[in-house]
Amino acid sequence: MQVIETIATFRRARSGYTGLGLVPTMGYLHEGHLSLVRRARKECGAVAVSIFVNPTQFGPNEDFAAYPRDLKRDLELLESEQVDLVFTPSRDEIYSAGNTTAVEVGGVTEMLEGAARPGHFRGVATIVCKLFNIVQPNRAYFGQKDAQQTVVISRMVRDLDMPLEVVVCPTVREPDGLAMSSRNAYLAADERRAATVLYRALTTADSRLRAGERSGEVLRRTIRATLATEPLADLDYVSIADRSTLLELDLVPSQGALASLAVRIGKTRLIDNFILGN
Ligand code: PAJ
Repeated sequence: MQVIETIATFRRARSGYTGLGLVPTMGYLHEGHLSLVRRARKECGAVAVSIFVNPTQFGPNEDFAAYPRDLKRDLELLESEQVDLVFTPSRDEIYSAGNTTAVEVGGVTEMLEGAARPGHFRGVATIVCKLFNIVQPNRAYFGQKDAQQTVVISRMVRDLDMPLEVVVCPTVREPDGLAMSSRNAYLAADERRAATVLYRALTTADSRLRAGERSGEVLRRTIRATLATEPLADLDYVSIADRSTLLELDLVPSQGALASLAVRIGKTRLIDNFILGN
């Protein structure tokens, strides 16, 4: 496994591989990240993983400085997954002085996380575009955990004719249903227990849909009601939306819908989603 910090060195190393899969990450790896690596390992001749805590996708009052980091452990995990190339650039390597270009994806960035975190998807689309240009993968792997991110990246790839395939992989959960996330490390023991309410709320809505309830508003209300049973959970938003446009639905069609939510538990903001009626 080669661990590379500069763009020039990465480009040289990359040229030795065909059929390259890329897993972009911000590190502090868990089983969710590793599930993407394993999928890439299965489907591609070679696997590259990037580890870069991208400052431009964090808002001024968000957790960029506090975001958990453990490069040594991450590299050990990737080594045991037989990853070929790891790209660990510094901030200056990625954003050289005078860098003023950004990628702005329209429409699907406006709602949900885009509304709650202004500028977030501009930062995500720009760093992912740069990583695609540096790594030149044939396939890139993303988790359903960040549902809107997968929609934004797929739209960027389509709209800008980027020559690669986006692969979306299922959300990996803890045994009690909590979606794995690097930010779960922030949760105190009582908050960790409270955090199980997100998955409970989503699966309750799924059961209601399966029992015949197709009203978006009733399903949103069902999710809110479940979240209200947990005193430590403070709801940011709940959405029942079309899976590709992310527009809110009055009625869930037969092909299903994306239920998503963002919840604060103490100081930690968690997101989760579930494809209803799948
Ligand atoms: P990060 O949060 O580190 O996540 C890296 C990838 O792992 C993303 O595609 C994310 O959706 C996926 N992932 C995280 N938790 C998961 C889980 N429980 N199950 C399955 N997949 C999971 O997302 C980012 O970094 C950044 O925005 C990035 C794309 C790297 C751009 O900076």
